[in-house]
Formats: sequence, C-alpha cells, structure tokens
Amino acid sequence: MAKKINCLISAGPTREWIDPVRFISNPSSGKMGYALAKEAHNRGFDVNLVSGPVSIRPVDGIMVTRVETAEEMRKAMLEKFDSSDLILMCAAVSDHKPKFQWEQKKKKDQFPQNIEMIPNKDILLELGQKKKKLQTLVGFAAETENGVQNALEKLNKKNLDWIALNDISNKKIGFDKDFNEITLFSSSGKRVNLDFSKKEELATQMFELILK
Ligand code: PMT
Repeated sequence: MAKKINCLISAGPTREWIDPVRFISNPSSGKMGYALAKEAHNRGFDVNLVSGPVSIRPVDGIMVTRVETAEEMRKAMLEKFDSSDLILMCAAVSDHKPKFQWEQKKKKDQFPQNIEMIPNKDILLELGQKKKKLQTLVGFAAETENGVQNALEKLNKKNLDWIALNDISNKKIGFDKDFNEITLFSSSGKRVNLDFSKKEELATQMFELILK
C-alpha cells in the first residue's frame, strides 16, 4: 500500500501581546489556509493544521494545533516538520513582537507612547534550512508593491520549492476575503497565474500544480 502523504499547513494570524487586553496582529481570517487543509484532506492526505486564532471550524479528520503567538506557531511547526512530506506556510506571522509584555492591564494614562519592538524568528526560513530532499516546502508572499521581485527573493532566501504571491493591494482578494488570486513561482523557474476564484477553488488548483 502506498504511504499516505503527511501534509502540514499553517493558517491564520498570530497575536503578539502587549498586556492582557492588547495585542499586535493582522486581518488574516484563516480562510486560505483552511481551504488548503480541506483540499489536502479531500485528497486523502494526513493533515496537520497549525492555526492562529480564527473563527472557522475545520472539517472532521484534520488534526488542529491551536496557537496564538509566532513563537508558539514556530514550536508547533518545528515539532511536525520532520515527519511531513508537504508543508504549506499560509499563516500571516507577525514579524515583530513587543520587547516587554506587561502582566497587568496598562491604565490609559500609563500606556507607553512608544512600544519597543523586537523581531520574531522567521519560521519559514528555519523550515527551509531544515528541509530534506523529499520534502516540498511552499510559502506565501503577501505584498503591496514589487510583488514579483519580493516573492522571488523569498523563494530563494527561504529555500522554498514554491511561493504563492498574493497582491494584497487588491482589496477584492487576500486578507479576510472569500476570493483570492495568486501567482505561483517554483524554484525550477515555473510561473503560473491562478486567476480570481474562491479560495477553495484556488486550493484545488494549487495542489494540482504542486503535485504534478
Ligand atoms: O487568512 P486569509 O484571510 O484567508 O488570508 C490569506 C493570506 C493573505 C494571509 C495568505 O494568502 C498569505 O498571503 N499568507 C502569507 C502572509 C505573510 O505573512 O506573508 P509575508 O510575505 O509577510 O511572509 C512570507 C512567508 O514567510 C509566509 O509564508 C509567512 O507565513 C512566512 N513567515 C513570515 C514571518 C515569520 N516570522 N515567519 C514566517 O514563517
């Protein structure tokens, strides 16, 4: 019997807490990542979904690890990475976090005027450094300008097999929308446009392309 494909997918935003009631995040709804997870599940793959805080319910049969911060997402992804064949990093991970997190809620008049930020680790970069020959690693690039150049830089720097460029300057697609439009670039030089469609349809097209 053929070995089942293990598919690891990240989805949704991360939250970087300032104090118990305030955090830094982004508008990712998880719709794209959950559509990818559903498609992988429909194809009979074993699916591990590492999800930031979203309000979507995954379909039964998908293993979900819920995380909040980028560091929690990093740990969950690293834990499952070695046993995964296909890894898709669709989450919108916060690049920075506040240097200090206050344990008590800051009163309005005590709230700092400037919040010192420090970088989070780049999860995808780390996965790319660990990648083995038989693993396929797919990243996303959410860009408002110089999309192609930035996506290709990320493809190379992070040692990816594919990158999906998301032009988030187009308000009809991307963050928290039901539709998307992406351009996929491969490390072997392929470039394929996947036109404006429901995220579920794009997920199907992405898998068809990546698994070809
Ligand atoms: O969730 P939805 O509302 O459906 O929206 C979907 C989406 C717009 C979030 C998705 O399609 C998308 O573009 N995801 C990637 C968002 C992003 O963080 O892009 P980036 O260009 O900043 O990061 C490049 C890649 O590095 C991404 O694969 C990201 O997951 C990864 N990354 C980034 C920072 C970090 N510290 N660690 C990472 O692994």
